[in-house]
Amino acid sequence: MREAVYKMKEDYKNIQDKISVFDTTLRDGEQSPGVALTIDEKIEIAEKLDILGVDKIEIGFPISSEGERETAKRVKSLGLNSTICGLARTVEKDIDAVLDCDLEYVHTFIGTSPLHRDYKLKLSKDKVKEKAVNIIEYSKDHGLKVEFSAEDATRTEWGFLKEIYKEVENAGVDMINVPDTVGILTPMDAKSLIYDLKQELKVPLSTHFHNDFGLAVANTLMGIEAGAEQFHGTVNGIGERAGNASIEETIMTLISLYNHPMDVDTTKIFNVSDFVSRVTGMNLSQNKAIVGKNAFAHESGIHVHGIMENADTYEPIRPEMVGQTRRIVLGKQSGGHAIEGKLKEFNIDLKENQLKAVLEHVKSLGDKGKSITDDDLKAIALSEMNRSDKKYVELLGLSVTSGDSVSPTATVRLLIDGEMKEKARRGVGPVDAALNAIDWLVKDSTSFELEQYHIEAINGGTNALGEVFVMVSDGEGNDATGRSADEDIIQASVQAVLNAVNKLLMIKKELNN
Ligand code: KIV
Ligand code: ZN
Repeated sequence: MREAVYKMKEDYKNIQDKISVFDTTLRDGEQSPGVALTIDEKIEIAEKLDILGVDKIEIGFPISSEGERETAKRVKSLGLNSTICGLARTVEKDIDAVLDCDLEYVHTFIGTSPLHRDYKLKLSKDKVKEKAVNIIEYSKDHGLKVEFSAEDATRTEWGFLKEIYKEVENAGVDMINVPDTVGILTPMDAKSLIYDLKQELKVPLSTHFHNDFGLAVANTLMGIEAGAEQFHGTVNGIGERAGNASIEETIMTLISLYNHPMDVDTTKIFNVSDFVSRVTGMNLSQNKAIVGKNAFAHESGIHVHGIMENADTYEPIRPEMVGQTRRIVLGKQSGGHAIEGKLKEFNIDLKENQLKAVLEHVKSLGDKGKSITDDDLKAIALSEMNRSDKKYVELLGLSVTSGDSVSPTATVRLLIDGEMKEKARRGVGPVDAALNAIDWLVKDSTSFELEQYHIEAINGGTNALGEVFVMVSDGEGNDATGRSADEDIIQASVQAVLNAVNKLLMIKKELNN
């Protein structure tokens, strides 16, 4: 997509051929406030991540609980393609817990910034360094692959950060991770930090950037531009506080905007995102990039028309690429193309005048702030199809008064064979009152009995459309049905009855000819 631009960009020259995805949804992601996953849920997420094709899965913090250890053991025993990693502090018992789960990869960390050294650990720089080096040696002696994080790296003195990373490199660490623990990097800072570390170190570098200022993905991409071999991220960007870099946004940007191949089955992205969102209870905002409900939804008539001609007009990538589906949403911005396209999906074929009437109905509902579901559209279209072609009787106006201290009254104004007529009648309720008024107004043309009356709310909510179905008979052996949908159930009832009365009159006129 960006080939021309891509080739021109000097900035991309440091990007590694292979960029590994280290997923920490099950560790940092589970640290999201209020989130606690069951062992089975974690196993299912791990399986989905494996199918997606992430390189490493941080399964949890084995020393912290029996449940964490059981999860790690069970996931390890599945023999997934992804490497399963356990988190550990720089203490031997934490490494032993990782070994006890049969894992081969450990991610060990210690706070290195003055804040962490002085307030949390109460350790000198030398002591922090010594603990880091000792634990690398201990882990290596036990046959583990080791990734080391200088926690709060981005608030650590540059000299000390370089020093500790060099020492762990000399101790044989396999991967150096750079956590922006409280998300304070700007994209330019991220790029220069990783670039500078690249000049100092030979071991592969990884990023772990938090999202406190909404920059985690941008910063991660900058780290990758500077030469990082791996990035940490989570599904849907969940994690401590504002979360981590979202793996789906990072992966899709690399593939689609950087033209960088990734060994990932992107069509599985939505599936894993949706599952994580359901089991964590962390609902996605509708406009979340890639996986949000609206990421591939179109409402405005201009956009829908463009999409139908060529999806590139208003979509940077196809929804299928990430396992999503395109949604055409109806509302006040909709145009005829959207309505026609949707109705085709439901095998409903309308005449041009009916289509116009449906569009007007949809727009008027949109103006009242209602979003129109597929079921709403079907009901509106069916009521339009149900309208008799010939309108002997047309509704010009309807008003009702109702309440516990007044007797329900309806005033109905009709155009009957070109003549305007109005009548007010009472009833046991407002629908009954309106039907009594219609009965009185049309009595010179036909009498009618209501044989059937069904009302149904489409979808929930007080602003749901009410769909009314009626059957009327004239007592002379002629029956007719009527249907209508409206957010006002009295209006829907009146319209359904008038549709039926018009059909009744049509039948009678045909019989008389
Ligand atoms: O954000 C962080 O610093 C961490 C460490 C454990 C790497 O999650
Ligand atoms: Zn973190």
